[in-house]
Amino acid sequence: MCPWHLRTGMRGPGICPPSCSILFIFLQLLSCSISGNGKADFSVFAPDKPLLAMVGEEVDLPCHLSLNISAEDMELRWYRDQPSPAMHLHKNGIDVQDEQMAEYQGRTTFLSTRLAQGQAAVRIHNVTALDNGTFHCNFKDGIMSAETTLWLRVAGLGSEPKIQVGPGQSEGVWAQCTSEGWYPEPQVEWRDLGGQSLPSVTNLSASPTTGLFSVVSNVTLLDRDVEGLSCSIISSLLQRRKVAKSYLPGRTEDVIISGEAHTGAWKPVSLACVFMCTCMCVLCVRVVP
Ligand SMILES: *[C@@H]1O[C@H](CO)[C@@H](O)[C@H](O)[C@H]1NC(C)=O
Ligand SMILES: *[C@@H]1O[C@H](CO)[C@@H](O)[C@H](O)[C@H]1NC(C)=O
Ligand SMILES: *[C@@H]1O[C@H](CO)[C@@H](O)[C@H](O)[C@H]1NC(C)=O
Ligand SMILES: *[C@@H]1O[C@H](CO)[C@@H](O)[C@H](O)[C@H]1NC(C)=O
Ligand SMILES: *[C@@H]1O[C@H](CO)[C@@H](O)[C@H](O)[C@H]1NC(C)=O
Repeated sequence: MCPWHLRTGMRGPGICPPSCSILFIFLQLLSCSISGNGKADFSVFAPDKPLLAMVGEEVDLPCHLSLNISAEDMELRWYRDQPSPAMHLHKNGIDVQDEQMAEYQGRTTFLSTRLAQGQAAVRIHNVTALDNGTFHCNFKDGIMSAETTLWLRVAGLGSEPKIQVGPGQSEGVWAQCTSEGWYPEPQVEWRDLGGQSLPSVTNLSASPTTGLFSVVSNVTLLDRDVEGLSCSIISSLLQRRKVAKSYLPGRTEDVIISGEAHTGAWKPVSLACVFMCTCMCVLCVRVVP
């Protein structure tokens, strides 16, 4: 810590007059406050932009000292809201498990290859939605410590959406689109085949165990002219979307376009259509001389 003659109150070199001694002590005090135990004062840095991680993958949270000095003998702590229990604690050269949050046990690795240059990182494996948010890393050397903040943004791309179609009230048609595993909350967009946006009612719910969002979205169509529709689930964070398309049943055009895809019930209709078309063609040929 401080030079021993300061702690014991001893005077400076004997040749100094009293005023010089006071100045000497003042200078010693100043240098004492700047450099705790002989090492210079340090700060800790981390990326200032949020890090992005996909659900189920891994991510490194790096921190480094402002100076090129070793952090091998320091206590290095990564934590969420409160310092203890920590997300990861590395002390006296080993990882300390007793002070680790349950949700991070067995899920972190301390990366120490550049510890001698004051750099370290904690790798989180199998990232979950609950990892989204703020982290702090604290480097402690004796009584001196410094820390900084890191931000992690977690993204989850959900399952392929599925559309179910059924008869609605009166003449209408009802369609429901479902998909799960999204993070953060996705957007939902319904369109008809002409690209017109359709009004819908959407329910997003987060799983209490994984934090991932499920989507259930409904549209009701009263307009008999809509031949088909698409449901898109959109992650604005990833700038990606997943789309499902459905052709609505019960429309003659639909039956002709995708003939084989329809079940027996529609066969008489398509046969009737083919018959009518053939008749009209024959008529046309006869009328035109
Ligand atoms: C840090 O210091 C070590 C020696 O102490 C040196 O080899 C290394 O190049 C330095 N790194 C940087 C980034 O200055
Ligand atoms: C990853 O985390 C999820 C949710 O916590 C869990 O269901 C899954 O088994 C984990 N996968 C691995 C490889 O540990
Ligand atoms: C995820 O964390 C970031 C900061 O890392 C924060 O800005 C964002 O609001 C969080 N998202 C959710 C859905 O909590
Ligand atoms: C939305 O979903 C949640 C969970 O599945 C359910 O409890 C809630 O009743 C639903 N709300 C509506 C309006 O469907
Ligand atoms: C969607 O429609 C189904 C069936 O009518 C209904 O049970 C469900 O609550 C609706 N969900 C929303 C979000 O409106």
